[in-house]
Amino acid sequence: MTFNNKSHFLMLFMIFSTLILFVSALDFLNAPAESPSSGADGFLPLAKKHVVIRNVVKNREILNVHCRSSEHDFGMVHIPWNGTWDFSFHVNFWKNTKFRCHFTWHNGGSHYFNIFKVYKDDNPDGRFPVCKECIWEVGKYGDNGHICRIVRDGRHLPYCFKWKDGP
Ligand SMILES: *[C@@H]1O[C@H](CO)[C@@H](O)[C@H](O)[C@H]1NC(C)=O
Repeated sequence: MTFNNKSHFLMLFMIFSTLILFVSALDFLNAPAESPSSGADGFLPLAKKHVVIRNVVKNREILNVHCRSSEHDFGMVHIPWNGTWDFSFHVNFWKNTKFRCHFTWHNGGSHYFNIFKVYKDDNPDGRFPVCKECIWEVGKYGDNGHICRIVRDGRHLPYCFKWKDGP
């Protein structure tokens, strides 16, 4: 009896330590943000992501951006025309990290967009490639200044999206 309980404890202990080691190893693997050779752009849990927003609105106004998730709020930032602003974060363990941004510019209106969603930006089976460095251009394409994720190898057209102005 005693022996059995002990081995149960031992087994539980081993399972938990393995899990903890596994999670920390993933975090460690994903730590070097600018390593270009880190495989499949990191769709593993806790993958590090870098989002870049570029102001290319047609009327060359300043772009006001306010991005937040349930855990982070970057406050309002003002991106000069042709300038960029960026932020980094880790996808959470549950892979439900979502950053929603509000964009305004003079004569450009007021628009919302989910700049990062695992389903759209970190989904190996999704419609769009997984990005580790997710570069977005605001206002260049389309009539009302769509938002587009550019593809850095230059062999693909940007992935353009409509604003998500609804709830
Ligand atoms: C916009 O920025 C890019 C890269 O930072 C630069 O090469 C280009 O000359 C700029 N364009 C204008 C019109 O300022």
